[in-house]
Amino acid sequence: MRRPFIAGNWKMNTTKADAVALASALASGINADANADVAVCPPGVYLDAVVAAVSGSAVAVGAQNMHHEASGAYTGELSGGMLQDIGCTYVILGHSERRHVFGESSSDVNKKVHTALALGLKPIVCVGELLEEREAGKTADVNSEQLYGSLAGVTAEQMANVTLAYEPVWAIGTGKVATPEQAEAVHADIRKFLAYRYNDEVANSVRIQYGGSVKPGNANELLSQPNIDGALVGGAALSAESFLGIIAAA
Ligand code: 13P
Repeated sequence: MRRPFIAGNWKMNTTKADAVALASALASGINADANADVAVCPPGVYLDAVVAAVSGSAVAVGAQNMHHEASGAYTGELSGGMLQDIGCTYVILGHSERRHVFGESSSDVNKKVHTALALGLKPIVCVGELLEEREAGKTADVNSEQLYGSLAGVTAEQMANVTLAYEPVWAIGTGKVATPEQAEAVHADIRKFLAYRYNDEVANSVRIQYGGSVKPGNANELLSQPNIDGALVGGAALSAESFLGIIAAA
């Protein structure tokens, strides 16, 4: 039985005061015996403050990206070691905005995945197709290419620390949520990929989140699909009330 995992990706939003207030509201609003793992991924500059705000609660903290090198002349970047040093548990890697706005390839994502796993950070590896790719019937090809590339060299044992997130790019921030049937079909394909690439145990145990316009009103139906194990939430993670509503749906 896979435990649901709900993560909030705050993207480039909030002030420091808002970030701490949101994190504190979530920390006090979630029961320690909630039936889901919960994480928030604030902007890098607020990670430290958010780690302090959720300390002792059931809320874990993740970063939205990292560099694959340990240190050096990489102006503007954060290393995985830095994230771990300040108390991050998770790191989102290969988000579609990193892939499509900042030009990250699956091979870039793969280097980061290896560095994160070596440090004990748990990657949330994102994949998803563009609208034109879906319309051209390439959804399965795009997702399996991103999965193969992003997970190259990752062992079955290491997959115990990896979460996958299926985020159809056309559903992100658009209000156009994938139907539960559309999302479930891709999640089931991803699980087949895991069985083929690894084994049944990996396929049955790795959690696959859905992301793209998840709201309290649609979370229940999405999360009740057999292969949808959680959500990676953008806009609706910026309010404690709506994020707690999604967690309640899990
Ligand atoms: P929205 O929930 O705002 O569509 O964003 C989804 C997302 O990109 C989460 O990583």
